[in-house]
Parts: sequence; C-alpha cells; structure tokens
Amino acid sequence: MAGGGGASATDMVRLRAAGVAVQIDAAFDRLLTIPDDARDRLYEAMRHAAIGGGKRLRPLLVRATGDLFNLSDESVMRVGLAVECIHVYSLIHDDLPAMDDDDMRRGKPTVHKAYDEATAILAGDCLHDLAFEILADEACHPDPFVRIELVKALALSSGPAGMAGGQMMDLEAENSRFDLPTVTRLQNLKTGALIAFCVDAAAIMARIPDDRRTRLHGYARDIGLAFQIADDLLDVEGDAVLAGKALGKDAAAGKETFVSLLGVERAREQGRLLVEQAKAHLHGYGPEADLLRAIADYIVERDR
Ligand code: IPE
Ligand code: IPE
Ligand code: MG
Ligand code: MG
Ligand code: MG
Repeated sequence: MAGGGGASATDMVRLRAAGVAVQIDAAFDRLLTIPDDARDRLYEAMRHAAIGGGKRLRPLLVRATGDLFNLSDESVMRVGLAVECIHVYSLIHDDLPAMDDDDMRRGKPTVHKAYDEATAILAGDCLHDLAFEILADEACHPDPFVRIELVKALALSSGPAGMAGGQMMDLEAENSRFDLPTVTRLQNLKTGALIAFCVDAAAIMARIPDDRRTRLHGYARDIGLAFQIADDLLDVEGDAVLAGKALGKDAAAGKETFVSLLGVERAREQGRLLVEQAKAHLHGYGPEADLLRAIADYIVERDR
C-alpha cells in the first residue's frame, strides 16, 4: 500500500520496531521458562504464540509516546510487554475454530493447530493473566497509584467495553447488516481500544493529567481506526505470505467491514484522511513526536 508519508517513515518504524522486537522476545523468553512438569505443553504453546513474529506495533507505540515524556526504557518495555500479552492472547482466541477458524498466524501454524484447542484456550488465558502480573509488579513503575491506573486502563481496554466487546460485535457482523457508524464503533472497540491504551499508558506513567491528554487521545483514536481499515484492505488485496495469515476471510464470511461498506478506494482514502488527522493532533509537538508521526504513516502503508 504505497502512500503519502514516503519510504522514510516506514524505514524509521521498521528500524525502531526491530529494536523493540528484540527486547520483547528476550523478555518473553525470560518469563516463559518451560517447567519440568505436566505444564510444559502450556508454556511451549505460549512461547509459540508470543516469541518471534508480529510487528510489535503496540509496544512500539508505548515507546513512541514515551519519547514525549522521556520515560525510562525499562517501564516502557514492561508496559509494552503487558499489552503485547493481551494482543497475543486475543490473536490465539481469534484464530480458534469457534471464532475465525484460522490455520496460520505470523507465518506459523496457529496455536490450536500446532497444539490443540484446549491448550490454545489456556495459553490465551495465561497470557491475559501475565499482562496484569507484569503491570502490578514493582519493576513496572515505582508509584503504586500509577500501577493501579495502568491495570485499570488495560482491563477496560481489553474487556467488554474494549477488545472483547468488539470481538463480540465482529462475530455479529457476519449475520447482521451493520451501517458505517456501527462498524466504526465495532472497530474502535476491537482494535482501537488496545491501541489507545498504548498511548494513554505513557501519559499515565508520566502522570499527565486527563485534561492534557486530549490531543493524544485524538491521535490514538484516528490511528486505531486507520489501522483496522488497513487490516481490512490487506484482507482484500494483501499478500498472504507477507501477512503471515490467510486473507480473503472477511468477504468469504460475509462480514461487514469498512471495505465492504465503502469499497476499496474510499476505504483507502478514509485511512489516509485519518492518518493526516492523527498527525494534525501532534502539531504542538516537535521532533520528539517524529516516531508517532512515522507510525501513523506506516499504519496505512504497511504490507503486513
Ligand atoms: C492483527 O494485529 C489483529 C488486528 C487487531 C487487526 P496486528 O496486525 O498488529 O498483528 P501482529 O501483531 O503484527 O501479528
Ligand atoms: C482480530 O481482528 C482482532 C482481535 C482483537 C484479535 P481480525 O480477525 O480482523 O484479525 P486478523 O485479520 O485475524 O489478524
Ligand atoms: Mg476476527
Ligand atoms: Mg481473525
Ligand atoms: Mg482481519
């Protein structure tokens, strides 16, 4: 998906994401040591899903927003790890036969294919739990009030008022004729809420009061929607090998998406408008927001 921001934005994001990916892989490797008992299969399944692969966009977003406030790498990495735990759990469950019934994820067999359904359900459950363990740990942030706020924000963005609620609506989108405002709400919950958490989490760690987060919230809302529009476009016209997952699934399931409602061209245009709008929210910031700007461009230019 070529577009406005140029190759440099994509290069900058790829470079920084690669650094974040090394940190996230190393942290999962440390946390998920395989025990010498009958839980070994569970840990292996968690490692299969969590280590190696994925764009690590959510931890990168925590890092990029952290750049605005000079947040320490340690805190940023731990919060990024927590949100990646939730994201990976959501993908494991999303791929289950009861949901999207997918065989490939991040270029590998899905967890229920490589292991079995029961193990996949438990591996997802445990990654969900691990997210909150990471946030509650003292090493995440020295201030317990900050840690509680992080736990609450991640719980809200993952649950019925966030990702899981959006997933429920997404399943309904196969059977109902949703209009554009309903699909927008669905995508804001399913994908936007967790992306918004990444941006908000940095503001929480920097103890920025709510009334000074408006521009950041605007940025997060716009890139969240643009991100899902890009996912829907990739599903129609992407390369399954690059994406590392089966494509063409939404139309086959008769699912209402931005692309089914707007068509490819208008959906792409909407994605670009959202990215420009997202960057406009950052006008008050200088070069410290360059990574956030580059992420916005990358979100609609990406091919995976
Ligand atoms: C895929 O997310 C699921 C959606 C929310 C659309 P990503 O595109 O971020 O997946 P990974 O982490 O790179 O595998
Ligand atoms: C899944 O959305 C979003 C989640 C919350 C996991 P999709 O079903 O569109 O994601 P892909 O296309 O399988 O990655
Ligand atoms: Mg799905
Ligand atoms: Mg899916
Ligand atoms: Mg999709």
